[in-house]
Amino acid sequence: MRKNILKSIFTILIIVTLIFAVFSCKADKKGKSVLGFSQIGAESEWQTANSKSIQKAAEKYSIELKFSDAQQKQENQIKAIRSFIAQKVDVIAFSPVVKSGWDIVLNEAKAANIPVILTDRAVDAKDESLWVTFLGSDFVEEGRRSAKWLVENYEKLKRADKKMDVVNIVELQGTVGSTPAIDRKLGFEEVMKNYPNYKIIKSQTGEFTRAKGKEVMDAFLKAEGKKIDVLFAHNYDMAIGAIQAIEEAGMKPGKDIIIVSIDAVKGAFEAMIAGKLNCSIEYSPLFGPQLMEAVKDLMAGKILPKRIVTNESVFPAEVAEKELSSRQY
Ligand code: AHR
Repeated sequence: MRKNILKSIFTILIIVTLIFAVFSCKADKKGKSVLGFSQIGAESEWQTANSKSIQKAAEKYSIELKFSDAQQKQENQIKAIRSFIAQKVDVIAFSPVVKSGWDIVLNEAKAANIPVILTDRAVDAKDESLWVTFLGSDFVEEGRRSAKWLVENYEKLKRADKKMDVVNIVELQGTVGSTPAIDRKLGFEEVMKNYPNYKIIKSQTGEFTRAKGKEVMDAFLKAEGKKIDVLFAHNYDMAIGAIQAIEEAGMKPGKDIIIVSIDAVKGAFEAMIAGKLNCSIEYSPLFGPQLMEAVKDLMAGKILPKRIVTNESVFPAEVAEKELSSRQY
């Protein structure tokens, strides 16, 4: 009798354990793959559009998305990645806020056998087996495009009284240590070194935000005033902050100071139509579907290319009106 009771308890325990295992097993959650994604934050319109694209695409592809906002802090991203590892997600993706300092946590993901996809920004870890692919733009090329557009168009856009013998540029850089800040600067300078009359007289971080962009441009204007001919801003949000600073200083953005910036979000098109911004170099945040395709392929056991580059254009102010209605972000 006692033996039978023990047997029944044992059987019940096994059944309960099995039921628990079935419900907690990620592969059985309606067959959905689980993606842990750590986003940098919402510092810019670009980042917000990128988060939306990823969230929308996850729904469309029926991928369970664990989304974490790092509020621009590397330590928050490291915490999020560790929590994804603990939750045994199928794939981890993240946009690294800065380039360095990822080796340890990426090795932890590797040890747990969880593939990692880098999105938007790269890392400088030596061991490339720590991630399966990097999906994002070529930031060096964006810097080059900004510079090429400038040298090809400055003469016809400059105020009549401005000279061509020296063109003074101020630069608003993105987050210190981030790949877009490092690479956009690199690409811009690579072209500019062939044009010795173009000089970068001030260069400082505006942290990719509107508020900091305004603050730093204020300081540039106080130090250099009317000497400034051109502003190169590494993103739209800093450009828009700087535009406000220029107007408050009693100058005309887009006329007294020629402005080229990166991102090509809707606001940039509106600023171009208003004549306050001269050119926007595109970096599309809409790669959510490409990321989900990559997750699906990984889950199907396919080998991904090590680098997936997104396609982008250059939009000068003269095409802004025509393009605005078709902008999705
Ligand atoms: O990493 C992409 C860059 O980061 C975008 O250009 C910028 O707007 C953002 O915050």
